[in-house]
Amino acid sequence: MAITRRVFLASGTAAAAFAAHQILNTKVGSSAERVMNLYSARHYSSDTAIYESFTKKTGIKVNLVESPGDKLIERVKSEGANSPADVIITVDAGNLWRAQDAGLFQPVSSRILTGLDASARDPQGHWFGFTRRARVIVYNKAKVKPEDLSTYEALTDSKWKGRILVRSSGNVYNQSLVGSILAAQGEAKTEAWARGLVANFARPSEGNDTAQIKAVAAGLGDVALVNTYYVARLAKSDKAEDKEIAAKIGVFFPNQKDRGTHVNISGGGVAKYAPNKAAAILFLEHLASRQVQEIFAKSNYEYPVQAGAPVDPILTSFGKFKADKLNASVYGKNNALALKICDRAGWK
Ligand SMILES: [Fe+2]
Repeated sequence: MAITRRVFLASGTAAAAFAAHQILNTKVGSSAERVMNLYSARHYSSDTAIYESFTKKTGIKVNLVESPGDKLIERVKSEGANSPADVIITVDAGNLWRAQDAGLFQPVSSRILTGLDASARDPQGHWFGFTRRARVIVYNKAKVKPEDLSTYEALTDSKWKGRILVRSSGNVYNQSLVGSILAAQGEAKTEAWARGLVANFARPSEGNDTAQIKAVAAGLGDVALVNTYYVARLAKSDKAEDKEIAAKIGVFFPNQKDRGTHVNISGGGVAKYAPNKAAAILFLEHLASRQVQEIFAKSNYEYPVQAGAPVDPILTSFGKFKADKLNASVYGKNNALALKICDRAGWK
C-alpha cells in the first residue's frame, strides 16, 4: 500500500508528543523520493482511496498524519519552519481560518484551484474548499411538518420550547453557523437569537450530530441542527436500527426565501514551509478533479464543489436547495465573536 498512515490523537504528555514528532521526522521523505506529507483532520477512512489514486496518477507517495483540527494546527505551529507538512486539510472554514490566522498556509495560484466556486475558497489562495456540507434542521416526521419550519431565526419562536436539540457551541460547526447569522443579522440580533435558541432547548447540549438525530428519532426533542452527511450515513448504514432512525427523520433546508441555508466546507491549502510544494499543489488539484469530487460525494455523502460533479442519490432525495453564498472565510473571521455570543447566551 502506498500510504503511510499515522494517527496522532490527543496525547496527555509532552514525552508522547515528542516521541510522535521523532517518528514523523525520521520517516518523512525528501522531494527526491517523490513524497507528499499530508496533515489531515478529516476523520473519514474512505479518503484512503483518494490518496491511492493520487499515487497511481503521479507516482508521488502520500505520508499521512491524521489528527483532530485543533491538535493539527497546534502541531504545525510548534513545528514551525521545520514542519514537514506539505498540505494541511481540515474540516470547517473556522479551522481553515485559524490555520491561516496562525500563518500556517502560503498562498498559491493554480488555474484549476481558482476555477473552484469563489464562495468556497480564500480569495488570496491560502486555502480551497473541496466539499460542502449543509447545516440543516432535521425533524421528527411524526411530530413536525415541514410547513412548521422556515428559518434558523424562527427556531426562537415559543412554539419550539423544550423541543430543540443541538450539540455544544464548543463545536466549530455551530460556531460557523453563528458566524453566518452574525454576518446576516449583526451582533445584537445574533445574541438575542442564541438566547432564544437556548431557551427552547430540549436538554443541555450533549453528544455529536449523530446523537442529536438519534434523540430526535427517540422523541427526546422534535428538531435538531445537524450536518447533512450525518443523516445520509444513518440512511445508508448496514444496520437496520440506523435505517429505522433515518426513516423517522425529515431534512429541512432553512432560509430558502432569504440568504439560503448555511453551508460549510472541508478544504485545505499548501503549508507555509512545504518541502514538496509542487507535489502539494498537484495534490490539491487532484482533490478538485472530477474523479475525486465523485469519491467525496459517494463515500462521505458531501456535496462536491466542482460544478457538474455527481452527488449521491441520498443527497438528491433531500432535495435541491439554495446555499448561503457568504464566503467561507467570513465564518472564520466571525469565529471569536460567535463564541463569545454563545457563552453570553448560556449555550454550553
Ligand atoms: Fe463531521
